[in-house]
Amino acid sequence: MTSVLITGVSSGIGLTTARSLLDRGYYVYGTVRRAEDAAELAGHASFTALVMDVTDRPSIVGALDTIARGAHPLTAVINNAGVAVSGPLETLAEEDYRRQFEVNVFGLLAVCQEALPQLHAAREAGLPNVKIINISSVSGYLTSPFTGIYSASKFAIEAITDGLRRELFDFGIDVISVAPGPVKTPIWTKAKTQTKAYEGTRYEYVLEKIDAYADNAAADGVVPQVVADDILTALTTDKPRPDRLVMKKGWLARLVTLLPKRTQDKMFLKRIKENRRY
Ligand SMILES: NC(=O)c1ccc[n+]([C@@H]2O[C@H](COP(=O)([O-])OP(=O)(O)OC[C@H]3O[C@@H](n4cnc5c(N)ncnc54)[C@H](OP(=O)(O)O)[C@@H]3O)[C@@H](O)[C@H]2O)c1
Repeated sequence: MTSVLITGVSSGIGLTTARSLLDRGYYVYGTVRRAEDAAELAGHASFTALVMDVTDRPSIVGALDTIARGAHPLTAVINNAGVAVSGPLETLAEEDYRRQFEVNVFGLLAVCQEALPQLHAAREAGLPNVKIINISSVSGYLTSPFTGIYSASKFAIEAITDGLRRELFDFGIDVISVAPGPVKTPIWTKAKTQTKAYEGTRYEYVLEKIDAYADNAAADGVVPQVVADDILTALTTDKPRPDRLVMKKGWLARLVTLLPKRTQDKMFLKRIKENRRY
């Protein structure tokens, strides 16, 4: 049986995707930062929990070593682990904007680097569907105010995905981005607690709306299974579309990316003025 590695299976998209892959007969290695967070999946015969923090290189090396010594050759990596730092770019603390990139960008790249020798080996052994799937976001296509640093990390993931795919083309390893719009996961509750960068600044007015914004986004969002299903399609299809926007009215978001930036600005400004979201 071949195996898939998914980072960040303690909740949300990672947990749902792990369940879906197990249901379809995959062997799943799922990473958590605390062993107890894998409790729900741990009872499954085809699941191994690995304790990994993507900002801690030795923990990545250790996890990949465990997989290499196991009985299930690794054929795919789903880079799902991520955090969403919110706050005005003008006032964000340096440790917070650095953490955004440490987890979402450098952590993802480190997992790719450590996993690739095993993916090359899988290809050389003739195994099919050898892939890296990076969980990006619609924020990797469009930048909203007050989540600019998150957006920057997801734009970076899009670039790494394209770069890797083009570098690995000759070796038969495909690299895909799955970019969800809002999804009903705990990430939105976590966003509500990030008030520090607004407090005592000229952006304090945003705080009044931050809970409503998070609640609306989660309420309007798709359930994680929709993203898991798309990941499954990307995993099992030969040459799937490599830039996969997974959201209601995804076509509209793609259209907006084509508009002149000043026109995009007006759309974001209108949203702020209407006070619908902020
Ligand atoms: N929900 C959305 O609306 C949405 C939309 C677009 C894209 N996404 C992306 O989808 C991915 C999953 O997010 P989610 O919505 O499912 O949120 P979530 O429920 O908060 O899951 C995030 C996962 O990442 C893990 N993680 C965070 N920091 C980590 C680190 N340093 N090392 C290893 N694992 C770490 C978390 O583990 P802990 O429990 O230990 O923190 C958790 O398992 C993220 O990349 C996110 O940016 C989400």
